[in-house]
Amino acid sequence: MTQIEAIWGPMTDPPRLARSLSANRPLVERGLAALRRTGRRLRARGRALALVAVLFAVLSLAGGLGGWLALGGFLAMSMVVVAGGPDDAEGADERPGVGESSERPRRGPGAERERDSWRMLLDAVPDAAVALDHNFNVMHFNARLVDLFPKVRAGQPLSQLSRNPELNDAVEKAVTSNGEVVVDLFERVPVERRLSATVSRLGGREIRRGLPFLIVSFRDLTEQDRLAQMRADFIANASPALRTPLASLRGFVETLQGPARDDPEARARFLDIMASQATRMTRLIDDMLSLSRVETRVHLPPRGIVDLNEVASYVAQALEPIGTASKIKIAVTKGDSPIRIRGDRDEIVQVLQNLVHNAIKYGREGGHIEIGVSRVLDGSPPQQRALVAIADDGPGIAPEHLPRLTERFYRANAAASHEKGGTGLGLAIVKHIVIRHRGELRISSVVGKGSTFSILFDELGGGTSRT
Ligand SMILES: Nc1ncnc2c1ncn2[C@@H]1O[C@H](COP(=O)(O)OP(=O)(O)O)[C@@H](O)[C@H]1O
Ligand SMILES: [Mg+2]
Repeated sequence: MTQIEAIWGPMTDPPRLARSLSANRPLVERGLAALRRTGRRLRARGRALALVAVLFAVLSLAGGLGGWLALGGFLAMSMVVVAGGPDDAEGADERPGVGESSERPRRGPGAERERDSWRMLLDAVPDAAVALDHNFNVMHFNARLVDLFPKVRAGQPLSQLSRNPELNDAVEKAVTSNGEVVVDLFERVPVERRLSATVSRLGGREIRRGLPFLIVSFRDLTEQDRLAQMRADFIANASPALRTPLASLRGFVETLQGPARDDPEARARFLDIMASQATRMTRLIDDMLSLSRVETRVHLPPRGIVDLNEVASYVAQALEPIGTASKIKIAVTKGDSPIRIRGDRDEIVQVLQNLVHNAIKYGREGGHIEIGVSRVLDGSPPQQRALVAIADDGPGIAPEHLPRLTERFYRANAAASHEKGGTGLGLAIVKHIVIRHRGELRISSVVGKGSTFSILFDELGGGTSRT
């Protein structure tokens, strides 16, 4: 007690005060900690104390309890409230050091829950995440991590989870640095992909038993890279496709301004070509917009109901005038009852229109086109599915082109496509719409005989594929 008084006494001898301070540090710290603890308890139990105060005030006023007696009773009850029960804010500024009070058992089921709540937090993290202890062994991981590292097990060292040396370097670095460490990883197993890993050290440098030391979260950038590549390819393809008709338009404008200025015959001819080039550009832009619309919706299942019989008749009728211009006959064979699928009617119409229009463009002049709607048994075990097939009797497509036909801007016969005003996007649009409808596109062709484009859908309420 006397030593403590020396601190608060007159400061005539500062060196003595410093000596006394350092000599009494453990005692002082303990005293301060006790004060802080009491402060916390007072804060935490404010409501209970207020209740006790109100109770004794009422007893003193209404119950005739004497003033001193009421004050004494209040103080006694307050001490019981402040001193009793577990310390709610425990550990806030008394964190255990290495292997020290981490041994101290925490009290009550609440503490147990609190110790495990970090696991629940990790489970809720939207990225793949794993918690490591100070030996870099896996303590806990969330479900998304299993998608990336199917072989992950609690207790295994990080080096077993991923052999990537960059990840292990990043973890070492995170231990010594203050912030988080981010690395890009190229993983080859189980599949090739690019991941971004963020290693964060939790809290200070001390190790707390039962709590994680590091959190490593992973973001899969593979899909993002693929989309970026697709966009880049698309722009690389789209700009020449637009530039060609644009350059031709400019050429004609210059000719009309210069040499052909006073030639009415040439002017009429050039204006015709210019109009067709402008139409071509419009078509290209329409198809590009259409494709990008379909692509953005490819993951949204369609909601409507479409009768394939009805759509087949509608498209045959709509394209009849174009067919007649090429002396091509379009016939429709329908199922005997409505064949309904879950779908977006406008999109299904677009699919059939693109396919029938191709059959007209690349088919045989004076030939036949057949649109067939039916139910077929397909797959193993065989399931009944709805089928739409568009068959022509044109020159057909050489087998080497078949796998690439649905790529954007791919043409089996570029000259024919160009001459017929094709954009090279029609089948890419078809493929995306079919994917959105969970259907399947099949192309078969015999050179010299003709081609058949078939699409299989699950029939609504039909066969075994009821959904
Ligand atoms: N019925 C068909 N017969 C022969 N070739 C076809 C047929 N349908 C499509 N093709 C080929 O597939 C290519 C891609 O078709 P598509 O994507 O619709 O583009 P586009 O019709 O604008 O050229 C066409 O350029 C053509 O070479
Ligand atoms: Mg086409």
